[in-house]
Amino acid sequence: MTSRKRERRRLGRRGLPRPLGRLALGLVRGTSTECGVWGGRASPVFFPRRSLMSRPPAAITAHVASLGDRGDGVTEPVAGRHYYVPGALPGEEIRLIPGPRRGDGWAATLESVLSPSPNRVAPPCPHAAQCGGCDLLHLDPAAQATWKRAKVERALAHRGLDDVMVRPLLSVGLGTRRRLAVGLRGRKAGGVAGFHERASSRLIDTPSCCLPTPALHQALAVLRHHAGDFLEPGEEVQALLTETETGVDVVIDAPRGPDLAVREALVALAQTADFARVALRRKSTVDPVAERRAPTLTLGGQELRLPPGPFLQPSREGEGHLVALVLEALAGLAPGSRVVDLFCGVGTFSVPLAATGLQVEAYDEAATAVAPLSRASTRIRAQARDLFRNPLAGGEWQGVTAAVLDPPRAGAQGQTQALAEAGPAHLALVSCAPGTFARDLRVLVEAGYEVAWVQPVDQFTGSHHVEVVAKVTRG
Ligand SMILES: C[S@@+](CC[C@H](N)C(=O)[O-])C[C@H]1O[C@@H](n2cnc3c(N)ncnc32)[C@H](O)[C@@H]1O
Repeated sequence: MTSRKRERRRLGRRGLPRPLGRLALGLVRGTSTECGVWGGRASPVFFPRRSLMSRPPAAITAHVASLGDRGDGVTEPVAGRHYYVPGALPGEEIRLIPGPRRGDGWAATLESVLSPSPNRVAPPCPHAAQCGGCDLLHLDPAAQATWKRAKVERALAHRGLDDVMVRPLLSVGLGTRRRLAVGLRGRKAGGVAGFHERASSRLIDTPSCCLPTPALHQALAVLRHHAGDFLEPGEEVQALLTETETGVDVVIDAPRGPDLAVREALVALAQTADFARVALRRKSTVDPVAERRAPTLTLGGQELRLPPGPFLQPSREGEGHLVALVLEALAGLAPGSRVVDLFCGVGTFSVPLAATGLQVEAYDEAATAVAPLSRASTRIRAQARDLFRNPLAGGEWQGVTAAVLDPPRAGAQGQTQALAEAGPAHLALVSCAPGTFARDLRVLVEAGYEVAWVQPVDQFTGSHHVEVVAKVTRG
């Protein structure tokens, strides 16, 4: 060995003596790293390379005090830290593996349950331990219902609305999802169709998923079998599946090109699976590749041609509950009264409201959703409009008797403010996010509106999500 080689060997690759040469130089700012907690200020420190740091942090014992709003067990403080632990339930004694900082506490993974909660059940899905799609399948459905209602009450109390009447939860069972967004990955033969692994971006196969309707379950099996026909091995895309009355509608994010071979493979797939339609989505453009039958849905007794892509309530049963509640909230209006449906989507509420004899003005930013809506009934006038940038305001509310608001998760702060100033006496509010719902409701209450009732609806059994409908009036 030459002397230069000997010297390089002694110093290691970074020119440091060997024992330090196997450490990497880093700047660490007062948080934990995999090998422990470092000082408070940013300071140069040496920390071991991964190969030397691979010993996982030691498990610790903790008591779970409550369920956080995202469905994680929240522990009592251990050495001044409370941990968020997916899979843990209130009242349980657990062993957890500490993770990095998360919000006002620390993330952790559940190592084992020392004393299980009486509300713990065997998840009704064989993928539950691994899949990141559902986060509360291990909690008894009755306890889920109690927790979801309490979650809505907490959100309201946080905005000083403790005295609002919250009804018992209405629940939709598993196996009812007519719409699902899934990941697809190609293999040399066949492929993967499923969801991301828990706390990971790795797509896993979920052939026995308990969410979809039988028709969607079957469609997923075909897509899994044929993913390799239109995806390269390892290539991943998102797909949106909807069970309609004429068959399954599939929108797939365009892989590569999309080239002729992909299109031909999808046309063949539509034929093999007897899909109603297969479309490719590239950014905001959705391009039907094969339409064997027009995908249709019945809303309020009216047949509607479903455009590919826009929002749709995920289950027929959940949609039924929401529509019945909106009709209840706006019951008793004189025929011909003008009702505004804000964030109307494909017309889930507009069409049934029009069917009761009301005149509906419907707005949504999704032009593809509103386009077929005006044609659905002579009593509906639908318009594409960005209600965040351009809320319905002032004189536009003149002569309007009632309104429905069903915004996305972010809520509708600006639109609610404009509504509070000039809006009608009768409101039906619908939301999938109790936090923003309570924030916007507070604006209305401060403007003189009263809340008759709030009804939680659970279309997402087995997850931490919950929706709400409210009847709100101004005298
Ligand atoms: C929760 S969905 C409700 C749709 C419909 N009410 C239903 O039940 O099917 C929210 C809707 O808000 C629409 N949206 C999102 N951002 C918007 C914006 N800035 N202006 C208008 N509509 C918007 C979406 O296109 C979507 O249709």
